Amino acid sequence: MPLKNKWVLITGASSGFGAAGAVAFGAEGAKLLLGARRVDRLKKVAAESKKSGAVAAHFHELDVSKTASVEEFISWSAKIIGGKNLHVLINNAGGAHGIDTIADGKDADWEAMIQSNVLGVLRVTRAALPLMPRDAGASIINIGSVAGHTAYEGGAVYCAAKAGEMQITRALRLELLGTGIRVGTVDPGLAETEFSIVRFKGDASAAKKVYEGTHPLTAEDIAKILVWVASRPAHVNIDELVVKPVDQAAVGKVFRRKF
Ligand SMILES: NC(=O)c1ccc[n+]([C@@H]2O[C@H](COP(=O)([O-])OP(=O)(O)OC[C@H]3O[C@@H](n4cnc5c(N)ncnc54)[C@H](OP(=O)(O)O)[C@@H]3O)[C@@H](O)[C@H]2O)c1
Repeated sequence: MPLKNKWVLITGASSGFGAAGAVAFGAEGAKLLLGARRVDRLKKVAAESKKSGAVAAHFHELDVSKTASVEEFISWSAKIIGGKNLHVLINNAGGAHGIDTIADGKDADWEAMIQSNVLGVLRVTRAALPLMPRDAGASIINIGSVAGHTAYEGGAVYCAAKAGEMQITRALRLELLGTGIRVGTVDPGLAETEFSIVRFKGDASAAKKVYEGTHPLTAEDIAKILVWVASRPAHVNIDELVVKPVDQAAVGKVFRRKF
C-alpha cells in the first residue's frame, strides 16, 4: 500500500514518536496533518518533514483532552483535505504523569492521563472517522504501551489508561468490520523520548536514569514500524504489535550495563 500523496494525521506530533513519525511518513511522500499543543514545535517538525519528502505538511494546535479543540482541529483538517481522503490516523498523543503509588496519587495527574490516553483517542477517532475512505486500505493506528499489558508499582493509572486504549482498539476493530478500515495498536516498551521528562515533571536527571546502562528504543524505531503497519497490503490488518528493546525482557526486567 503506497503512502505517496496519502493524507496522514498524527496527534502528538510535536515530539517523540509523533515527530519522528511525521518525518518517516514524509519520507514516503505522504501529506501530513500534525497536531499538538506546542505549535512552535509543530512548525519545526513540519519543516523537517518537508525536507524528508512530505508533499505537504500542515500543522494546527490540538489538545486532545478538550472536545472543542478536537472538533476544531478536525474541521480544519477536513477543509484542507476536502472529502473522505484521510488515509492514516495515528492516535499517538498521550503519556504518563507522575510515578506515585495510588496512596499518594494526585487527581491532576490521574485526570491528565485518562484525558489524553483514553478520552483523547475516543474524541479524535469519533471526529476523524467521517473523513476516512471505505475499502481503500485506510488505517487507524493507536499507540498503546507494554504498560497496558502489565501493571507496575507507581503506574496504576498509566497502566489502566493504556489497557483502556487496548480495549478501545479491540472494540473499534469489531465496530469497523466490513468498512475496510484497518485498526490496530502498536505497543512500545522502553523508548527514549520526552516521555520520562514529562512523567518526572521536567526533572531531566530522574528521566535519564530510566535509560541508564541500557539500549532503549528510539522514536525513529517506532516511526519506521508505524510506516510499515500503514503500508501493508489493504487486506492485511496488524491488530496488536508489542515492540520492546532487546534489553527489556519484561516491563520491570531491564538489562543495564555497568560502565
Ligand atoms: N517513550 C516510551 O517509553 C513510550 C512507551 C510506550 C508508549 N508510549 C506512548 O507513546 C506516545 C508518544 O509518547 P512519546 O514517547 O513520543 O513521548 P513525548 O516525546 O513526550 O511525546 C508525547 C506527545 O504527545 C503530545 N500530547 C500530550 N498530551 C497531549 C494533549 N492533551 N493534546 C495533544 N497532544 C498531547 C505531546 O505534545 P504537546 O505537549 O506539544 O501537546 C507530544 O507531542 C504516548 O501515547 C505514550 O504514552 C511511550
